[in-house]
Amino acid sequence: MNTSFQFNTTKSIISEPGSLRKIVDICQKLQINKPLVVTDQGIVSCGLLDKLLSELSSHKDVPVSHKLTVSVYDQVVADPQEEIIFRALAQAKTDNNDGVIGFGGGSSMDTAKVVAVLMKSFQTLNEIYGVDQAEGGRLPLILIPTTAGTGSEVTPIAIVTTGKTTKAGILSPLLLPDVALLDAELTLGLPPMVTAATGIDSMVHAIEAYTSKIKKNPYSDMLAKEALRLLSENIEVVCQDGNNVDARQNMLLGACLAGQAFANAPVAAVHALAYPLGGHFHIPHGLSNSLVLPHVMRFNKTHAASLYSELAPYISRTINTEQSEQSITDELIFYIEGLIKRLLLPRTLKEMKIEKAQLPMLAKDAMLQTRLLINNPKDVSYANVLAIYQAAYGA
Ligand SMILES: NC(=O)c1ccc[n+]([C@@H]2O[C@H](COP(=O)([O-])OP(=O)(O)OC[C@H]3O[C@@H](n4cnc5c(N)ncnc54)[C@H](O)[C@@H]3O)[C@@H](O)[C@H]2O)c1
Ligand SMILES: [Fe+2]
Repeated sequence: MNTSFQFNTTKSIISEPGSLRKIVDICQKLQINKPLVVTDQGIVSCGLLDKLLSELSSHKDVPVSHKLTVSVYDQVVADPQEEIIFRALAQAKTDNNDGVIGFGGGSSMDTAKVVAVLMKSFQTLNEIYGVDQAEGGRLPLILIPTTAGTGSEVTPIAIVTTGKTTKAGILSPLLLPDVALLDAELTLGLPPMVTAATGIDSMVHAIEAYTSKIKKNPYSDMLAKEALRLLSENIEVVCQDGNNVDARQNMLLGACLAGQAFANAPVAAVHALAYPLGGHFHIPHGLSNSLVLPHVMRFNKTHAASLYSELAPYISRTINTEQSEQSITDELIFYIEGLIKRLLLPRTLKEMKIEKAQLPMLAKDAMLQTRLLINNPKDVSYANVLAIYQAAYGA
């Protein structure tokens, strides 16, 4: 057991259906008078932005002098490019905002995080990429996830698309918000496909945190197990009945716990192989993970069977744990493949219209994700990555 480690997370987490109603209160406590809400058009068109704006303008018990002046940047896109950050930042400067609310999935929350930092910085975006490059402070920051997926509300990470197919990460404790607000009522309308893909993303965060080679630690282990219990028990329920508030809250909490786990014990080969799929083919992040997950686990089995078999009972109570670690792992991988099938997610790269001839290019790109590959329980070569993509390609 590794007892030498660091563990950082979001200072305040509020988990409760309907907790959006506390938003004015939270703004007041953080001394935010002019918040910038950062979100995307999907959130606007399903009416969620209106719900937030209506809460922000409800000033019950709030003296007139404390009324909020709210601005909105609603042009975030999936996998946001630098341009999106610059536009949101320009608006925050024009409107002289004194706080930022990230409202949406990982894309909106990541944009909000970077804007909050750059508003208080003399550095450029380019200067803060990488680990611990951001200096100074940030504006007060509230993150409200509307997907149960990335866990961005508790990670010191923001991912920005920097080129046509490339992404860069900013890693800094400054990116942890002051408050994360988990309100399942905001996720009720999430379509089954997005629910399934983002839910698998969270499960991968927990699995990869638990097998993380360098920074694995007792807190992350605990969080990963409880995250997997919550996510596995509820993912099929919410895909069948999106309006089940309790199951939706469990998913949000599971995603948050998994986020806390991987923020401190980072993800590995599943994410390294998923990123090029997103970069080249615009496959959503969760689905990219789902497409390679069973194949990476099969590859890792020689080095991670003992850890996978510890996780097995948290993922399914039907797996026979009275057998060898290798056999438990085989059963676990089989179970996960069945789960992905039951969730009706595409299962092969072929189905995603990727050409076999493109696999070497993907493998080359995945090998560039050294920040992630060093965390994998088993060393990964170019030939290994290519073989995993070939297995994921399908017959
Ligand atoms: N910061 C981190 O730690 C971290 C970790 C993993 C991934 N990421 C990044 O997060 C992004 C992916 O985030 P994501 O998977 O949450 O997707 P997303 O934010 O891109 O959103 C996906 C789509 O779902 C819609 N949507 C969101 N909530 C909805 C709701 N409640 N009802 C209806 N529609 C809704 C959005 O409008 C959008 O169209 C990527 O940019 C990825 O690189 C960040
Ligand atoms: Fe992820």
